[in-house]
Amino acid sequence: MPDPAIEFREVTFARPPALPVLDRFRLTVEAGEVVAMVGRSGAGKTTLLKLVNRLLLPQAGAVLVQGRDTRDWEPIQLRRRIGYVLQEVGLFPHMTVGGNVSVVPRLERWPPERVDRRVSELLELVGLNAQQFGPRWPDELSGGQRQRVGVARALAVDPPVLLMDEPFGALDPLTRAELHAEFRRIQSRVRKTVIIVTHDMGEAFALGDRVGVLDEGHLVTCDLPHRVAASNDIRVRRLLDALPSVPRAHTDAAAAEHPSESGRTASAPPGDGR
Ligand SMILES: Nc1ncnc2c1ncn2[C@@H]1O[C@H](COP(=O)(O)OP(=O)(O)O)[C@@H](O)[C@H]1O
Ligand SMILES: [Mg+2]
Repeated sequence: MPDPAIEFREVTFARPPALPVLDRFRLTVEAGEVVAMVGRSGAGKTTLLKLVNRLLLPQAGAVLVQGRDTRDWEPIQLRRRIGYVLQEVGLFPHMTVGGNVSVVPRLERWPPERVDRRVSELLELVGLNAQQFGPRWPDELSGGQRQRVGVARALAVDPPVLLMDEPFGALDPLTRAELHAEFRRIQSRVRKTVIIVTHDMGEAFALGDRVGVLDEGHLVTCDLPHRVAASNDIRVRRLLDALPSVPRAHTDAAAAEHPSESGRTASAPPGDGR
């Protein structure tokens, strides 16, 4: 059996004197799998991701990436294997789109032609015309386009692992739904191991092969979406009940038109005060 891509073994992470953010947290993510982790603001989602790329180290337990403890990974080597899409995109404002996407390849000292080819390929992969968008500045893009660039940048050196921190949180519902579909299309081509964290259960259902729920430092569940949707756990129900519902007549019409998409389209989350 190959090592799982990512494994949390009884991980405890605390910033004393506060209670532990993660308390003996366990999770195994197989290669090529998308785990969508849901939790309210402050639940520890960003902390979880930072433990994977060694921006943080646990006080107890271990985080393993490709079978190796993050403590034993050389940090730069580890981070080259992990693409990170940040909560607020975090494009460098003084670099063009092409410049942003090519940051890591240039750090890796790829020859310029190879960098250019890769930038074009990545922009096309995320649905942006390379000629048109490569030379633009981040402030000349819409929010959705910025997110696409963020994804392209994270994929630049073809890392096996992708971490996504509420990547679509700031977008309007239609753009979000569009990017969810884009994400699924891209993932079916690149087959990364993905952990995506979100406060929105609807988004988790749209993206995850498995859906996890993080509550007060514990993993309440991590299972197939339909099983999570049927959960009776109060901590899971709370998140499910926060999903907006569409008035009934509309639901029936929408279900008749798009049988497989019903329930996914109306995923505007309540504001969480982030
Ligand atoms: N640098 C920090 N210093 C002190 N406390 C922090 C720091 N970063 C996060 N926290 C606290 O840790 C908890 C988890 O934070 P975080 O992982 O960012 O949650 P989430 O991403 O789910 O909103 C929160 O209570 C937050 O206030
Ligand atoms: Mg966060």
